[in-house]
Amino acid sequence: MNDSNHLSMKPSRERQQPFVAADTLAKALDRLQEYMELRQMYHAAMREMTTKLKNLDEEFCIRFDRNPIHHIESRLKSTESIIGKMKAKDCEIFVDSIRHNITDLAGVRVICHYLRDVETLAEMLLKRDDIELVYMRNYIQKPKNTGYRSLHLVVSIPVCLADRTEQVPVEVQIRTVAMDFWACLEHQLRYKSEDEVPVDLRAQLKDCASMIAEADEMMQEIFDKVKSIT
Ligand code: GTP
Ligand code: MG
Repeated sequence: MNDSNHLSMKPSRERQQPFVAADTLAKALDRLQEYMELRQMYHAAMREMTTKLKNLDEEFCIRFDRNPIHHIESRLKSTESIIGKMKAKDCEIFVDSIRHNITDLAGVRVICHYLRDVETLAEMLLKRDDIELVYMRNYIQKPKNTGYRSLHLVVSIPVCLADRTEQVPVEVQIRTVAMDFWACLEHQLRYKSEDEVPVDLRAQLKDCASMIAEADEMMQEIFDKVKSIT
């Protein structure tokens, strides 16, 4: 049987079953719309937060003649990661439960020059009336077992939508250039190695993190001395 014969075949008299029932499809489309609105809201929060940080950096520069921020990165958590995290937490995947269970859907990473810039920036952020602290994890005072150092703040900020204002959480990771250098390479190494990184190499990575922490302190001391003589 060739293609043209195939195309000219009469349709079967049997009524074809729809692939998805209409009401199921309608519900799925509603949920998708709700999810897209959620992502847009978190995207707006991420942008708002980035703007607030850029404004603070500019203000600091005018007042103290230098920028505390080296650069800012941001990302919206991928749908795949959201599903993975929700499954790991054994939560049902609904928009409300995503909002309730995931605080790092909007993520902003602030890379500072010096150790003290991290603290100063966090203080400046938390003093503002439009930023509310949800929780803080200080992995600089108390580094993770891996050696990871960074200051994590989950803050809530208002996002003005067309018909209402919503409080939206944003995870802000603040760290020095040196801490970021370590975190990026360590992340890559863990990602690249198919199995776990061997214990002895993990210990070496942790040693590197300590050396980097010492270097950060030394750079801060050098900066302070240079500042005091200029
Ligand atoms: P996540 O599910 O990964 O978000 O973890 P969590 O909710 O327990 O938060 P946690 O405070 O542990 O850290 C969240 C984020 O910090 C991670 O997504 C990474 O970006 C970063 N992080 C935490 N630990 C490490 C680490 O050991 N190495 C590196 N490179 N990054 C880390
Ligand atoms: Mg995370």
